[in-house]
Amino acid sequence: MIPQRMIDEVRQGTDIVDLVSDYVRLMPSGRHFKALSPFSQEKTPSFIVSPDKQIFKCFSSGKGGNVFSFIMEMEKVTFPEAVELLAKRAGIDVSKYREQGARREEKQQDSRFETLRWAARLFFHTLESDAGAQAYAYLTGSRSLEAATIRRFGLGFAPESWDHLLHAATRDRIPVEHLTELGLLTRHHQRNTLYDTLRNRVIFPIFTIGGQVAGFGGRTLSDDPETPKYINSPESATFEKSKILYGMHAAKDEIRRQEAAILVEGYMDVIALHQAGVTNAVASCGTALTRYQAKILKRYTSRVLFLYDGDNAGKKSMLAGIDILLSEGLTPWVLLLPGGEDPDSFIRNRGKEAFMEEMRSNRTPFLDFQLRCFRDAGMMDSPDQASRAVSAMTRSISLVPDPVQKELYLDELSKQLGISRKTLVKVMASADGPKTHAPRARDEEPPAPAPAPAPNRPLSVSERTFLEALLESTFYGNEVLAFAASHEQMLSLTNHAAQAVLRHLVDRFRQLDPKEHHGIDIAAEISSIGMEEARSLALDILFRLPVQEQAPILPDQLMQHARRCLSHFLIAVKTLVLEPLQLEKQALLSQLAGTTEKHEEKQLFIRLHDLNSKIRAMDQEVTGSINAILERES
Ligand code: CTP
Ligand code: MN
Repeated sequence: MIPQRMIDEVRQGTDIVDLVSDYVRLMPSGRHFKALSPFSQEKTPSFIVSPDKQIFKCFSSGKGGNVFSFIMEMEKVTFPEAVELLAKRAGIDVSKYREQGARREEKQQDSRFETLRWAARLFFHTLESDAGAQAYAYLTGSRSLEAATIRRFGLGFAPESWDHLLHAATRDRIPVEHLTELGLLTRHHQRNTLYDTLRNRVIFPIFTIGGQVAGFGGRTLSDDPETPKYINSPESATFEKSKILYGMHAAKDEIRRQEAAILVEGYMDVIALHQAGVTNAVASCGTALTRYQAKILKRYTSRVLFLYDGDNAGKKSMLAGIDILLSEGLTPWVLLLPGGEDPDSFIRNRGKEAFMEEMRSNRTPFLDFQLRCFRDAGMMDSPDQASRAVSAMTRSISLVPDPVQKELYLDELSKQLGISRKTLVKVMASADGPKTHAPRARDEEPPAPAPAPAPNRPLSVSERTFLEALLESTFYGNEVLAFAASHEQMLSLTNHAAQAVLRHLVDRFRQLDPKEHHGIDIAAEISSIGMEEARSLALDILFRLPVQEQAPILPDQLMQHARRCLSHFLIAVKTLVLEPLQLEKQALLSQLAGTTEKHEEKQLFIRLHDLNSKIRAMDQEVTGSINAILERES
């Protein structure tokens, strides 16, 4: 755990304007700075940074917070990782606060990654050495790779030898158990000796998103049909194929910039596309696309273009991949290259321009692609087959988590097929397979019924005024929070987001060291509110609050501000607490006016009387507390 004071130090050492400027171009706008949001593609800037409050808010995506929230969102990291990143940037060392257990595990991981990096270097140098001459000629010749591309992807060569790697490991004192664990060395059981797993192969290091070598793919140079074309490192602690996308480390920025990713099948496809300047391409490493990989993509974009081989196997993989993407809320597109080419061979044979032209004119929405597959297979010609095809397509649509998108896809399908929406919905409902995108595991308990929460009401004016005064007051100390904490029972807000903001601040106040006199850091507190709607509401209020003057302010002026703020708050409390009772009273009065029945009238009078005493009591209590505070203040 990094101690709070270090976190504070890091936050104070990082200026939000400075930090955000590393990512977007900020333009001054009054007291704020404006920019095009880095989180969405937009034409008019809705991303605002407040240097006074050290917060940002993106009005198009609703995201907002302080420097930590910004870096978490931008770099897709966790809070502790964000603190570490910003600490590094501010020149503060927080590494010693990493948890011991985590550190030990990390150390082991670190040394495994070191071994992997060592191996990648060895393969790379071998490729550049005499031993790699033939492989180098293959890559630059028939595969048309440039030297810069080979370097960028760290390609290498494992020569036709049983102990090239083993020998170098002994020389460089690399732990052989790492190499066996990583599958780079294999044990010969009869002789109990180790030998190199990858021989006479071009080596493709596979990187993590952060750019560390996690494993290898190797393509044979032999044309012996008995030799498998590709061999990949086996699964290990550092290498889980289902969780890695080849090329992601090189593609992620462009994927975010273009808001689109291209998914191809092979290592060479990724490399050829990048070399041609299409740098948002990635591949799953010789496996079918997994949900995990879809989730990785989703951190960067919602649009994914499949660019697999156009043969039957490729089409099948795309059909399966489409369902995976849809169920993660991504939007799939498909481009089928003509002439049975894969992206690598297409670019090599026809050039980049022809490729770009294909991208522009021939990519299709996934629905069109599905329909085309079924048509090509002749399924749309006979009613029973067509019915199967239609269920398959409605099943895909049923996976889409967003209800609006689902509706739109259904509309589109209905238009394309000339089958009414009603029928499609029926087919969708009657389909056997799972309809939700996250079927519950069989052994999982059904969720226990939660206690019915109080109904959520829209934010009332008095609730907003109350929150405004509460937030503003934190500029002047903890007095108001202390009041809110001790009167929490009384302060029940009917809007859930507003209630969550209050709860959060009161909880945080209670965790404060009582010796701590300076107020809480409101921007930081707000950024860490868990409920998104609450965080957004609080940020919104904070943005609209008047800024404290930059010019040094006289102490008694400050005092005046503080007092004014406190009385605003107390008035807001009073309104807030008494408002529901006043409303109830009004309702009773109008009921009374409407009744002619003697007995009912009497009942209503009794209730009115009770209510009046309740209001008086409440008023007295609140006013009493308020006066006590005001007296203490003056
Ligand atoms: N693959 C694999 N194991 C195999 C065959 C293929 O892991 N035995 C994976 C590799 O990631 C490969 C991808 O599937 O890059 C696509 O395979 P394929 O289309 O056969 O190869 P290409 O990428 O076209 O390779 P090349 O152009 O070098 O022939
Ligand atoms: Mn190929």
